[in-house]
Amino acid sequence: MSSEQQVKAALQVYEDVDTWKTFRFLYKAAMKEVNTKLEILNDEFQQVHQYNPIEHIKTRIKTAESIVKKLRRYGYETSMDNMVRYVNDIAGVRVICSFTSDIYRLAEMIGNQSDLKVLSIKDYIKHPKESGYKSYHMLVSVPVYLSDSVVDTKVEIQIRTIAMDFWASLEHKIYYKFEGNAPDYISRDLRECARVVEELDERMLQLNEAIQKCIVRDADGEELMDSAADELADRTEQIVYHFKNLKTE
Ligand code: GTP
Ligand code: MG
Repeated sequence: MSSEQQVKAALQVYEDVDTWKTFRFLYKAAMKEVNTKLEILNDEFQQVHQYNPIEHIKTRIKTAESIVKKLRRYGYETSMDNMVRYVNDIAGVRVICSFTSDIYRLAEMIGNQSDLKVLSIKDYIKHPKESGYKSYHMLVSVPVYLSDSVVDTKVEIQIRTIAMDFWASLEHKIYYKFEGNAPDYISRDLRECARVVEELDERMLQLNEAIQKCIVRDADGEELMDSAADELADRTEQIVYHFKNLKTE
């Protein structure tokens, strides 16, 4: 029996298999709702500001196996009730932005959606984890409209920059490889990389702001000033220089 079948068999003791199917269906529907909302916000932003805050979106439904593992870790028995109550990330939406400023802009737009409830926020950008992990987490609930009822369903939204995502995916691999006990030098290197990620994000933001200024000048019909272009070239050079140096430090 696959682990999924085992879980289903276990669940059958508590509830029937149809309930399990409905359960997954609900979370999938909620995830789609959030995904669509984000796409619409992104499109609207493009219309108004000629700019996309979202680079891309990834969605996933937690496997039965990891849902049960998480419940065990928390010390709860496997039941549909406990899953709904205690496992907040059954439906997960990860939003990758280019710049840190986009993250807060997007979070605010999500918070302003009237049919979506923000249940909790964890700002690991302002308060990174011990590991160096950075990301902005929102736990929300969305109403899923079925033929005869409306069910508020939880979705975990993680918003991060490309650089933060790059870091998190590598750290995740290392964490699993060493089962949470990575050698000190690796953990130290990871924390150092987290610092580089922070600096890179900050510099890319400044660079983007410089570019935006040039575009505004252009839109006004004025010639793109040489000094602005020079400033950009200087900054690019500075960044390249900085990262070359980091490698040899
Ligand atoms: P779990 O960590 O999922 O048990 O729940 P929690 O209540 O502690 O939530 P938290 O917001 O801390 O983390 C939720 C999710 O964020 C995780 O499932 C991961 O996807 C991600 N995450 C949190 N901390 C880290 C980290 O140190 N490294 C990486 N790579 N991802 C992390
Ligand atoms: Mg955690």
